[in-house]
Amino acid sequence: MGYRIITAQEAATYINNGDGVGISGFTLSGTPKTVLPEVAKRAVEEHEAGRPFKIDLYSGASTGDAIDGELTRAQAIRFRAPFLSNPTVRTAVNNGEMVYTDLHLSLMAQDLRYGFMGKVNVAILEAMDITDDGKVYLTTAGGIGQTVANLADKIIIERNVYHHTEGLHDVYEPLDPPYRKEIPIFKADDRVGKPYVQVDPKKVVGIVEVNMPNEVVVFKELDDVTRRIGENVVNFIVSDMKRGIIPACGLPIQSGIGNVANAVLKSLEDCNEIPPLYLYSEVLQDSVIKLMELGRVKAGSTCSLSLSRECLDHVYENLDFFRDKLVLRPSEISNSPEIIRRLGIIAMNTAIEADIYGCVNSSHICGTRLMNGIGGSGDFARNAYISIFTCPSTQKDGKISSIVPMVTHPDHSEHDVNIIVTEWGVADLRGKGPEERAKIIIENCAHPDYKQLLWDYLAISKKGHIHHNVAASLAMHATFEREGDMHLTQWNKFV
Ligand code: COA
Repeated sequence: MGYRIITAQEAATYINNGDGVGISGFTLSGTPKTVLPEVAKRAVEEHEAGRPFKIDLYSGASTGDAIDGELTRAQAIRFRAPFLSNPTVRTAVNNGEMVYTDLHLSLMAQDLRYGFMGKVNVAILEAMDITDDGKVYLTTAGGIGQTVANLADKIIIERNVYHHTEGLHDVYEPLDPPYRKEIPIFKADDRVGKPYVQVDPKKVVGIVEVNMPNEVVVFKELDDVTRRIGENVVNFIVSDMKRGIIPACGLPIQSGIGNVANAVLKSLEDCNEIPPLYLYSEVLQDSVIKLMELGRVKAGSTCSLSLSRECLDHVYENLDFFRDKLVLRPSEISNSPEIIRRLGIIAMNTAIEADIYGCVNSSHICGTRLMNGIGGSGDFARNAYISIFTCPSTQKDGKISSIVPMVTHPDHSEHDVNIIVTEWGVADLRGKGPEERAKIIIENCAHPDYKQLLWDYLAISKKGHIHHNVAASLAMHATFEREGDMHLTQWNKFV
């Protein structure tokens, strides 16, 4: 069967006001590049003609400016899930201009299948190629491609010849309850699915020809704080290996997103006390590719290659070396609680803030303003062998303490957090009660400038299983919002 080659402009005409649009990709990788910017232009024209035009947009995780940014500026998104990182869409969500659902990323595909969100009318998949019988070879991410292709009435393929991920994908979609079976992954690099997404060729309305790299994220250079956090994490893992808590062969690692996560992985480069490891993660950043070449990482399972252009080109040029070391999976498999628990993952995620009892906020600044979302941090934290959260002890020139009496938005409760690490040290919360946890977090992780304030909070707290002064518990945040500096918090009015 021959497919029609169409322009991005024509493809955009298949998307109508009110449609649910599901796309391939995960972070800035593997998302379609040309059709949705044309949808944004269409939305502007429709709005100028006085007609409504908004879509519901479903993806594996965040997308870049060409999708979330352009569509937001065109006021073309009604509903968005499950993760954001683009500043334009973040502002729109925080201004209440669209509905956003922050989800565990492992749930996105199944929530669509279960009918928890709207209908998927159109799927847009970025692919290296599609065969006549509907085998779609995805590019740099697994995402929710198979699910949205199954659910959609119409499929648009962006055939992007820039990418060369031959042999990297392992596409497996679980059955829904009550028919679901175990996912037979027993080692991080086991392959259990097909190297392609199977679509019904009759649904394919056309192919748009593209030759474009992914948008890329630029990380901040390592600084003294992130370097110390990385060293603290590595030292902690080494010490748990020496104590026999982590087996001598090591356990697979998951590493979250962002500057801090990148710094932690960099610290593994020089550490010979940890044996070569597997990664079982939702994103792989540049640092992992280097670790593979150094022999420090044996293989990595991921949903997305979130690499700089230079690094991705390097992988493509050396695909023979990387082919058996990289597995690209759908997000419900890369983040599957079942597999994370089975493999015994050491999960390393970043906190916006942590409280003195070990609850973590990953998503909302001062409890109200969305940063990016929970992402996969909850999938991993709850099910990990060891769940580590890292963060710098202060933010915004020291005016914010990341260690607070009570988090303003609890993404991960104390029950899912084993270890907290800042540049000052490590709080090992395993097997400890709340009072012990508070002491060790303040002593080992809080910035010296804030320690006394936190001790004083404990002193004015009501004693129970957990010690809190409910009225004062968010006073550090309130002080920051009012006076711009948490240091100015005064407890005397709460005594
Ligand atoms: N109060 C105010 N701002 C804060 C803050 C706090 N307590 N903590 C962090 N921030 C701000 C920083 O100042 C920085 O702002 P800037 O961009 O204006 O400089 C921004 O948040 C990012 O912080 P940074 O310290 O550079 O860390 P990061 O790049 O490592 O990102 C998270 C940290 C928490 C935002 C990021 O890891 C995230 O979105 N995590 C949730 C999703 C997740 O964990 N996914 C991984 C699963 S695999």
